[in-house]
Amino acid sequence: MAERVIVHEVGLRDGLQNQPRHVPVEGKLELLDALITAGVRSVEVTSFVSPKAVPQMADAAELYARIPKRADMNYEALVPNEKGYERAIAAGARTIALVLAATDTFNRRNINMSLDQAIAVSFAVIARARADGVKPRVYLAVATACPYEGPTPMEVVFTLAARMFDAGAVEIVVADSIGAGNPAQISRLFETLARRHGPERLAAHFHDTRGMALTHTWAALQGGIRKFDSSIGGLGGCPFAPGATGNLATEDLVFMLNEAGYETGIEMAGLRAAVGVAETKIGRPLGGHIMGWYRSQEQRHGSKSCAS
Ligand code: COA
Ligand code: ZN
Repeated sequence: MAERVIVHEVGLRDGLQNQPRHVPVEGKLELLDALITAGVRSVEVTSFVSPKAVPQMADAAELYARIPKRADMNYEALVPNEKGYERAIAAGARTIALVLAATDTFNRRNINMSLDQAIAVSFAVIARARADGVKPRVYLAVATACPYEGPTPMEVVFTLAARMFDAGAVEIVVADSIGAGNPAQISRLFETLARRHGPERLAAHFHDTRGMALTHTWAALQGGIRKFDSSIGGLGGCPFAPGATGNLATEDLVFMLNEAGYETGIEMAGLRAAVGVAETKIGRPLGGHIMGWYRSQEQRHGSKSCAS
């Protein structure tokens, strides 16, 4: 039987948070609907952050209230602090994502906290989540390099991961937030973390800034990782991470996984439709590496029938 890999869609949050054109709730719901139709079952819906910091996420509560209630969907909300946690829970979130950057400067720029303050806030939110029966995941941001402090020492990532697991985090997501890693580094990071904590408690979040995201994915797959973030159309780029471009595109990730015999439950034809929806909402062409090939096939065959 094919091995299952979970594709966690982050386009609605990481993808949209930095877009100049505001996407209203209806547009976000339409995109979510297209993703669900394609077979996506794990989605980061939004973030409960300061609307002054990220205006695109100001509608978090309304959006969360209106997402399709389905037992087969895993929805998640990003929270930066206890206030965000309270807002997320009030909106119905049962899985939350904390973002702890590996460097002091990135935490200050992103959430206006020192590294020590961010660790303390993570502990507080994890404790509350555990008490409330809510699943806390922790993103370790800038895990390969920081746009302000340069290369991130691996030991820092290992120490933060251990501290977060000790505090009760259910999963650690290693995030190459600016797409600065290399595959050897990704292999070593996951090899050590998987040995210490188990691959099933780990996930990966790659940006495709330098075209390495699929290579990193393959490296992590070899290390036993079976959960990957991606963003439809390659949407993305963090407003607090200069130079970061889009996330690994969902269509690239799913194409590679499906072709390589992993089971994702996601169909390419549906994803292509979702890329189209995202394009109309954003108002510009989108798409990962595989989209050029699909478009050239369509031109040759004069129809979309080859797009499955
Ligand atoms: N949601 C909504 N509003 C929030 C909030 C949250 N989670 N946390 C704080 N606020 C509000 C406060 O109520 C206060 O409002 P007021 O000015 O009307 O009184 C204001 O924001 C300032 O509060 P403070 O605690 O001093 O926050 P800050 O200015 O130090 O900002 C964050 C800290 C974390 C709220 C802000 O930096 C942020 O939202 N960052 C998120 C960045 C992000 O999304 N990055 C990408 C994903 S990692
Ligand atoms: Zn990201």
